[in-house]
Amino acid sequence: MATTEQTSKVSEIRSEMPYASNYIFLNAGSYGPIPQRTLDAIQAYQQLEFTEGRSFVRLGETKTVAREAAAQAFNVPVSQVALARNTTEGMNIGIMGINWQQGDELIITDTEHPGGQYPSYLVARRYGVQLRRVKLGDASGDVVGAVEAAITPRTRMIVTSHLTWNTGTVLPVQEIQELARKHDLLLILDAAQSAGSMSIDLSDLDIDLYATPGQKWFCGPEGTGATFVSERGIEQLQQTVASGSSMQYGAVEHVGGYVLPHTGANRFEMSGVNQPNIAGYTTSVSWISQYLGMDWVSERIAHLGRYAWDKLSRLEAVNVITPKERMAGLVSFSVEGVEPPALVERLAQDGVIIRNIGFPVCSRLSTGFYNTEEDIDKAVSAIENAHRELTK
Ligand SMILES: Cc1ncc(COP(=O)(O)O)c(C=O)c1O
Repeated sequence: MATTEQTSKVSEIRSEMPYASNYIFLNAGSYGPIPQRTLDAIQAYQQLEFTEGRSFVRLGETKTVAREAAAQAFNVPVSQVALARNTTEGMNIGIMGINWQQGDELIITDTEHPGGQYPSYLVARRYGVQLRRVKLGDASGDVVGAVEAAITPRTRMIVTSHLTWNTGTVLPVQEIQELARKHDLLLILDAAQSAGSMSIDLSDLDIDLYATPGQKWFCGPEGTGATFVSERGIEQLQQTVASGSSMQYGAVEHVGGYVLPHTGANRFEMSGVNQPNIAGYTTSVSWISQYLGMDWVSERIAHLGRYAWDKLSRLEAVNVITPKERMAGLVSFSVEGVEPPALVERLAQDGVIIRNIGFPVCSRLSTGFYNTEEDIDKAVSAIENAHRELTK
């Protein structure tokens, strides 16, 4: 795409996202900025509910359209999509989904977010499952070899991220998936940071469960997301919760004693959802994945990520943690003599929004498709100034 065309596309996007244009916003890894069209869709839906009432029929249609948007974005059949409230709900669906026995083993990496860690610790405490914690560090080494070395005859599941939230490393999920198949293990992937920041074709990956949020890189409302469950996952994972949304209507009455789950991944859905937000989710996901295009979005995010990586690594006081050859749009770094929370707070005073991470102790910026090189330049000089000021 020609530079002028690129520039006008980005300005058009920024005019729809006041948060991203009024600030140097570099924190989509926490919450993406909501575009105008998503706000409009949520408000229009709320207005409709207000004047025309809420309806189960509309709910069904709204959810169908949302599943279709998610299915299209990740190239899977709609039967493999479960709408979820966030990534963590999807991780719970996967991790809680088998009949764990005392002494079974679950492999988890040391780069997991609490969204994957906590449900794993819960099955350890509740069922006596042994957690095998694979040390990946910045995950620039032999990830597949490290995971394989942790497999024993008692292993039943691997829990890992696609893009690590703390070091910003893209893990080799295709190879981990092959490993899982080879050893007949379930693979539960935390895709909180990859969904909406990388172009992902799940039909190639065939992951058992891929948990994604709506509120981060997809710039949707909170309380939204989609969990993708492969055919094998649907076959092997049990439902942990049951609701009017997960069961075939009337099944209880018709077959007395039996309840029939839906045949697709929607068997994992809970009822009582926020309909306007689901409509907003659909708008955000469709805009980003179809209208802007996931290839363009992911390339721009990666380009800006590398740009930030280069600029930051030129600063003497900065140590960039993210391995450049395995990065996407997250850049984690530490600044000599400056505590990350103090840096985040100081930068916010200059309108630069990033976050800090507890393990490893560092700061993290997320480059969005709506950012510009100028945003990065300003953020980098703000970091330089903050270092000077805070180490005086
Ligand atoms: C890797 C990872 N997993 C899970 C989560 C939790 O996400 P959610 O709020 O969608 O459950 C986050 C959020 O920061 C994350 O970075």
